[in-house]
Amino acid sequence: MDLPIAQRLQRIPPYPFREIAAIKRELQAQGVEPTDFGIGDPDMPTPGFVIEALHSAAQDPATHPYDETGFGIPEYLEAIADFGKRRYGLSLDPEAGQIQSCLGSKEALAHIIWAYIDPSDVVLVPDPAYSVYKVQTTWAGGAAFPMPLDPANGFLPDFSAIPTGVARAAKLLFLNYPNNPTGAVATREFFAVAVEFARKWNILIVQDAAYNEVAFDGFLPPSILEIEGAEEVAIEMHSFSKTFNMTGWRVAWAWGGAPQVAALSKVKANVDSGTFMALQRAGAAALANYDAFVPSMRAEYQARRDTLVDGLNSLGWNLQKPRATFYVWAPVPPAYATSADFAAALLHECHVLVIPGTSYGDTGEGWFRLSLTLKDADKLGAIAAAVERIRTRLPRLWG
Ligand SMILES: Cc1ncc(COP(=O)(O)O)c(C=O)c1O
Repeated sequence: MDLPIAQRLQRIPPYPFREIAAIKRELQAQGVEPTDFGIGDPDMPTPGFVIEALHSAAQDPATHPYDETGFGIPEYLEAIADFGKRRYGLSLDPEAGQIQSCLGSKEALAHIIWAYIDPSDVVLVPDPAYSVYKVQTTWAGGAAFPMPLDPANGFLPDFSAIPTGVARAAKLLFLNYPNNPTGAVATREFFAVAVEFARKWNILIVQDAAYNEVAFDGFLPPSILEIEGAEEVAIEMHSFSKTFNMTGWRVAWAWGGAPQVAALSKVKANVDSGTFMALQRAGAAALANYDAFVPSMRAEYQARRDTLVDGLNSLGWNLQKPRATFYVWAPVPPAYATSADFAAALLHECHVLVIPGTSYGDTGEGWFRLSLTLKDADKLGAIAAAVERIRTRLPRLWG
């Protein structure tokens, strides 16, 4: 059959990780198993208490039909609201429609764009960034205006650099802190500035908080909704994926002002038919056991972060330890012209798989990302061995 795919799909480059996975398969076919600092997918299992909660919920036939609530079952939404109060001091009311169950935060991020963006509408998108914000904006016919994340500004966007005409035209503004790929975090002061900017220009902030619970050294990333007045101009997406090693489960939520949550809900009502109710019960159980589990998850990644950053710094980098996310964002040594060149050298000569910064946007040129999620049995040993291979096989990194 010779049936062309839609032009809107033709225009989108392949999903970045598919290409990386293909290169990895090629190496494996040659008998080489690279140390994979590529995709950010937790390598540790979902905690037993979540699996048990799903198991018993799935036995209950009441969980088997469509979830007709539209937003999510009360038990789940109340568990989220309680978590919001405990962790962030928020008072969000599920009965007022302030919380929406989602099929992963990726789904929520994509559909909020379809809720607000008409052809030619402007969306402010960080660069570098998780690809979904720009791709979905483009699909919806909107125009993504890049906000470069400059290391000199802590990888935060500079709102004063956005031309007035663009700010006036913009409808959505994406933020993602803690940030993929840079590992940067935002302070409440920064969120307050963002909220002020959004109020001034009548823009909805979409804050992607997928990594809010993966934080180190006692640091607890804030929610943008902690900022006074934020509910009127911001919606925030949270996910169980990274917090509880549940990427495949597709469980997440959006919270914010009722009108924005209702807009997302309306799109979803026409696309999916809610989250499997047994998964919602499992999500409630996960949040109830947050304190028993999350500190150990953080400690595990923190040890890996320390081994990797100390190792890279011993090779001549000068990296700060990221305070959150399981990513390390590092500059390409001057001996290499591009991110892609350096990633290729690491892969072919050192069997170390990293993601070139350009996978996250033009501003990512000159950078590469390492994820602390590793499949190897001995994580710290694998990180140390990878660093040693770089030391011996690429001895002239710095010219
Ligand atoms: C920045 C960011 N946001 C959202 C997601 C999506 O997470 P999920 O759909 O599993 O909740 C990811 C996944 O890697 C991500 O890196």
